[in-house]
Amino acid sequence: MRHLFVTTALPYANGPFHIGHIMEYIQADIWVRFQRMLGNRVHFVCADDAHGAPIMLKAQDEGIEPEELIARIAADRPQYLQGFAISFDHWHSTHSPENVELSTDIYRKLKEAGLIYVKPVEQFFDPVKQMFLPDRYVKGECPKCHAKDQYGDACEVCSTVYAPTDLINPYSTLSGATPVRKVSDHYFFKLSDPRCIEFLDEWLGTPGRLQPAVANKAREWLKGEGEHALADWDISRDAPYFGIPMPDAPGKYFYVWLDAPVGYLASLKHYFDIGKARANGETRSFEEFMAAPEVEQIHFIGKDIIYFHTLFWPAMLKFAGRKVPNHVFVHGFITVSGAKMSKSRGTGISPLRYLELGMNPEWLRYYLAAKLNANVEDIDFNPEDFVARVNSDLVGKYVNIASRAAGFITKRFEGRVLPLDPTHEAATAKWSTLARERESRIRDYYEAREFGKAVREIMDLADEMNAAIDREKPWEIAKDATQTERLHRVCSDCIHAFRRLTLYLAPILPRTAEKAASFLGLSLPLRWSQLDEDAAGTIQPYTHLIQRVDPTLLDKLFESAPAAQTNAAASSSAAASASHRGEITIDDFNKLDLRIAKILKAETVEGADKLLKLTLDIGDAQRTVFAGIRAAYSPEQLTGRLTVVVANLKPRKMRFGVSEGMVLAAGPGGKDIFLLSPDAGATPGMKVK
Ligand code: MSP
Ligand code: ZN
Repeated sequence: MRHLFVTTALPYANGPFHIGHIMEYIQADIWVRFQRMLGNRVHFVCADDAHGAPIMLKAQDEGIEPEELIARIAADRPQYLQGFAISFDHWHSTHSPENVELSTDIYRKLKEAGLIYVKPVEQFFDPVKQMFLPDRYVKGECPKCHAKDQYGDACEVCSTVYAPTDLINPYSTLSGATPVRKVSDHYFFKLSDPRCIEFLDEWLGTPGRLQPAVANKAREWLKGEGEHALADWDISRDAPYFGIPMPDAPGKYFYVWLDAPVGYLASLKHYFDIGKARANGETRSFEEFMAAPEVEQIHFIGKDIIYFHTLFWPAMLKFAGRKVPNHVFVHGFITVSGAKMSKSRGTGISPLRYLELGMNPEWLRYYLAAKLNANVEDIDFNPEDFVARVNSDLVGKYVNIASRAAGFITKRFEGRVLPLDPTHEAATAKWSTLARERESRIRDYYEAREFGKAVREIMDLADEMNAAIDREKPWEIAKDATQTERLHRVCSDCIHAFRRLTLYLAPILPRTAEKAASFLGLSLPLRWSQLDEDAAGTIQPYTHLIQRVDPTLLDKLFESAPAAQTNAAASSSAAASASHRGEITIDDFNKLDLRIAKILKAETVEGADKLLKLTLDIGDAQRTVFAGIRAAYSPEQLTGRLTVVVANLKPRKMRFGVSEGMVLAAGPGGKDIFLLSPDAGATPGMKVK
């Protein structure tokens, strides 16, 4: 038996879950449920990542204490987790006594190991708010292209990266005040210490620990030189801050990313301390468990937080004398119909709305499983694909096998299922041999997080069975009184097949599998070893297991419908529920720099038969824009006319050059594109609002 301590990344406690979180939980949950089915002992925990400046400031905005904000967010968590059947054993918070104790202890050990030093750092300070400003709260004019209102770390117009102190006319986004430079002592973790480098080199290089792409990326950071050299890590922040006070530095707090991963341990410790681990078969204490060499520590995370999890976190644990992670499993991002979603706001699909619409969570679990793999690849949620996949695979292939046979078994044979007989000459009887042969492959795919491949294997088997049923035609032999025995054989084979497929799919479809188990007389919890048990016996009358997806549900999921008033929606701020409905504020709209533009020149582009290269006069400047309108317009039709351009769109590098904006047009595309034009009198550069 393996002893597994599994986590997912701790979500920031400043907002509700978005579909990206749910995807991560579904991935980890499938793997965890599979491990449990194998008989391994899993402790699967998570927590809210409650600290940091954004949470402190958001609470201030709402006029409440940060504790109240994080409690409200925490109260909303269970409806999502239960909603999508995520089987965490425990959920805790980084704002907890366990985390204070563990973070402080780890910090002390790192200090004893000589890996902490103090260095003065000059930073922007907001004289009104009386606080140091994280980069994202300083804005100003880009020192390179002079675009206004750029963030403190990089220019969104020309993409130059700089320090906040390089901005021209900087201002604090919190108070509007001009920040002043101020020096304060910061505490650093010496990641560049030769001991750390040596340890990480070995940790990263352990075969099978990380996905190759992840190990390579981390090793690049580790071995960086010159301006890319591995930097030491600033782990302190000055008050005011919402975090854990440093034990030896009054007025200073641990930076949120120091105590966040320690939250993995804090959650596990709390789970042990309140007796839940014992209820899960664990007799050791938290400390004993974490000291046991056979315990495997595994983190599921997204690709944006690899640095923290493959450099800082293992080094912190190592030099604090603790167990280091055995695996960090990294997934890509979910996009919705090809569009990236914002990390903080989330867009596209609201998981809560999905549940409110009564959509079956197992549709989403199945759809994502079919797309998930062990690579760090983004995966796309496509509504048409979703409907097609779920309806054809789950309903058309899997459930179909049971529904085609169950009625006959119940009505004609009192629910009795014949034992398997692989030597029987019926087409359906051969299937069990084939399905057994594929078992180890399916198991290996689950183990390796190649869920898409496992699903393909399973659906292939379902196809084979359906084809065999089509050959045997039970609905026809049922009419022939001399064929009763064969009918019993074929329908029994269907039940055996359905039973096996149910076990194969159980990590992905836990609720359907439970319902199917009571129909089949399978004992719970389901175990992989039940595949080897003889399934003869009786079945219960069949009730339908999975509905088809009605495609209009997808329209409802995406349309800006009024948010149903649930506790979550009611308790969240007006802004949050507006974004839930897809609405924007006038401030959002004002972010668009829409202007009248004159098309000075329109040219075809060699090697791109959909594009035209436009040279635009936008009043104070000229811009080059590549527009996919060639099928609808010839260059001659465009030269000299006016249209509308988005002038502050982030420039995009294309194969043929940089596109510095977007012209507006209506229509579905191809020949049906209709460029906007203003009424007479408008001139280039006029603002559109
Ligand atoms: N609080 C940190 C993690 C601390 S772990 C000690 C954090 N929180 S987060 O809420 O921004 O992200 C939580 C997880 O969700 C991360 O693993 C992140 O990669 C993942 N995702 C965020 N957006 C995502 C998608 N669009 N798609 C899939 N996963 C995404 O980072
Ligand atoms: Zn710039």
